[in-house]
Amino acid sequence: MKTVDRLDRNNIPKHIAIIMDGNGRWAAKHGKPRVMGHENGVESVRAVVEGAGEIGVKHLTLYAFSTENWDRPKAEVEALMALLVHAIEAETQELNKNNVRLSVIGCVDVMPENVQAKLQGCVDALQNNTGLNLVLALSYSGRWDVLNAVKKLAGDLANNKITQEKINNELFQNYLSTAELPDPELMIRTSGEFRISNFLLWQIAYSELYFTNKLWPDFRKEDLFEAIIDYQNRERRFGKTSEQLTS
Ligand code: FPP
Repeated sequence: MKTVDRLDRNNIPKHIAIIMDGNGRWAAKHGKPRVMGHENGVESVRAVVEGAGEIGVKHLTLYAFSTENWDRPKAEVEALMALLVHAIEAETQELNKNNVRLSVIGCVDVMPENVQAKLQGCVDALQNNTGLNLVLALSYSGRWDVLNAVKKLAGDLANNKITQEKINNELFQNYLSTAELPDPELMIRTSGEFRISNFLLWQIAYSELYFTNKLWPDFRKEDLFEAIIDYQNRERRFGKTSEQLTS
């Protein structure tokens, strides 16, 4: 039986987030420079976007560049920026054909202007699509997101737009970069590391976490489907008891 046919189509996560890790190790394993790992990682991005779209996932958030990634060697940062621009140029048409929309979360203002322009061009070109929403987390970190939200909220408090009593989970999440998105039901990390690495900290409070040893450039649609099948076999209790869920 094909992996895709083992999926319960009535229980597909609406939002999946992925920490794409292991590009450098993949390159080392193949005796190639690190940047080749990132280049091959783009093929995996293409595969998961296609797979997620096929089975009706609504939002797919990819951790493509963290706030901390700015501290990598200059040449690697530049190569990643160039790769991003190249990938956008090469993929926009295909994404459009597949009815994919693009969104970006993160402190994008600090990215090189040509990258910002390319991203905006792609977001604009795909804005009317109604299929998968591909969310790229760029210059993103969970702590940045929370602090940014706190700053905006503090401003609204100071301007009397809101009152302190009104602050609750729902209100707070409207200040996050993910305000338009449901929390991810499933978060995947590749490469055998068991860390969240400052990704969607607030949003993953009740996400199911899935870790695989596969290095990101080896990750394909079937691996995404396997992760979803694993998710579908979990009992999500949200703090309740198992009995409460079944009664
Ligand atoms: C982590 O692997 C990966 C990154 C920091 C970059 C991810 C970027 C891509 C997959 C390519 C561009 C993306 C898009 C959306 C077109 P690592 O370098 O930390 O690997 P290591 O831990 O093995 O060194």
